[in-house]
Amino acid sequence: MTPETSSMENVAQALKQVAEHGERFMDNDSSARERLVASARALILAVETPMDSLLWHVWALPTRTAAARIAVDLKIFETAVEDGGHPKSSEDLAAVTGASPTLVKRISRALVSMGMLAEQGPGLYTPNSFTKLLANKEYAAGIIFNFDINMESLAKLPEYLKKTNFQNPENALDGPFQYANDNKPAFSWLVERPETFEAFHLYIHSLRQHRPSWTDMYPAQARLVSGLKPDGDASAFVDVGGSMGQILQDFRANVPQYTGRLVLQELPEVVAAATEKGVGADGRIELQVHDFFTPQPVRGARAYFMRTVLHDWPDAQCRKILTQLKDAMEPGYSRILISDCVISDEKAAWQHVSMDIFMMAQVSSRERTEHEWRALIESCGLKVTGIYSKGDGNEGLIEVYPARVRLEHKHRPIGAGAALSVLQYIFYVDKTNDSSEIPYILICA
Ligand SMILES: C[S@@+](CC[C@H](N)C(=O)[O-])C[C@H]1O[C@@H](n2cnc3c(N)ncnc32)[C@H](O)[C@@H]1O
Repeated sequence: MTPETSSMENVAQALKQVAEHGERFMDNDSSARERLVASARALILAVETPMDSLLWHVWALPTRTAAARIAVDLKIFETAVEDGGHPKSSEDLAAVTGASPTLVKRISRALVSMGMLAEQGPGLYTPNSFTKLLANKEYAAGIIFNFDINMESLAKLPEYLKKTNFQNPENALDGPFQYANDNKPAFSWLVERPETFEAFHLYIHSLRQHRPSWTDMYPAQARLVSGLKPDGDASAFVDVGGSMGQILQDFRANVPQYTGRLVLQELPEVVAAATEKGVGADGRIELQVHDFFTPQPVRGARAYFMRTVLHDWPDAQCRKILTQLKDAMEPGYSRILISDCVISDEKAAWQHVSMDIFMMAQVSSRERTEHEWRALIESCGLKVTGIYSKGDGNEGLIEVYPARVRLEHKHRPIGAGAALSVLQYIFYVDKTNDSSEIPYILICA
């Protein structure tokens, strides 16, 4: 097929971008890496015929995902790196599990085509750096978790949406996941499957390790440490739905000057698993069983932190979670910190849109744009006082305070005390240019 002039122009443009970003990358500009990857992907798209692209997306990708999941059960990655990674035949790789060498060969060559394994001559396999990563349980967990939880719900998602006349899923307890999985809530489904449950926590931990930490974006010294009350609940940094405590451990390492209490709140099963792993054994992290839909037991804490918690829930449930926190906050002192994706309105990052469809299928939820975050937060009587981010496709950090109550009153005159508060408020804002630290001014005229 002769390429059209316009597509040749696209290829030329894409090549130029690759060369530019490639040069910067080779000059050790690490920030150019993401741009180089994005421009290389754009180049592939420009060079591929639409038919190539179609086959890649709808034919190749699902079969490869299944092959990768089978490879984990066959222990191909772990076996490939053994004995210094010397070349192994499919018979060698099959011996560990007693699987059919023919089957192992079919899976192994699929892995080679994905770059997950290397081939040194026909049917002789060696590990590459990707194999070495996947030989590590923490990274193989990403394959286990994503495949196991997605398998039924993504396969049934089109059918579910057709049955509901293509309405946006909004019900966490009656959505695509329940349609595909005998009406089970996703978290109950997960808790009942120890292998997938463990893989989930390992996977979210590994994801976090390879992305900028929220403490790289948020001025923790100025916003959390300065002005920290030393004792009791007021000194607490509460990680709500904090998984196995890694976020708090990272926080300890990254902000050692934070001397207040560190509280991990989770479901009973997760607290039990964290305790078993020794989280909190040194007494620095307190483990607390807490359901975030019920009243928050730590009152007036310095911060209530939630990483990838709200993206698990549709707006109605998020409002309940946020309202429980709002009721516990000390205005002017406490804040909520939300670490989650903030999707761009245009040309959204592939990581964000993949996560968005994932959340739709599993928990009838979504990733949110800045506008959607603001609307959700403001609907709870809270307000966004800062959005911090670093790089494309990562999680941002949203700082939230209680909203101020409107000062105007239509029908009755304001009393002298209230008028004084208004004057103090105006004076404070004028002096500091910071309305975020202002406590509620309740005018009950
Ligand atoms: C996506 S994970 C995020 C975990 C952790 N924040 C992180 O980023 O590593 C959501 C967490 O919310 C917890 N969770 C779910 N429902 C909960 C509830 N009702 N109360 C408290 N935690 C809950 C889950 O156990 C899970 O660990």
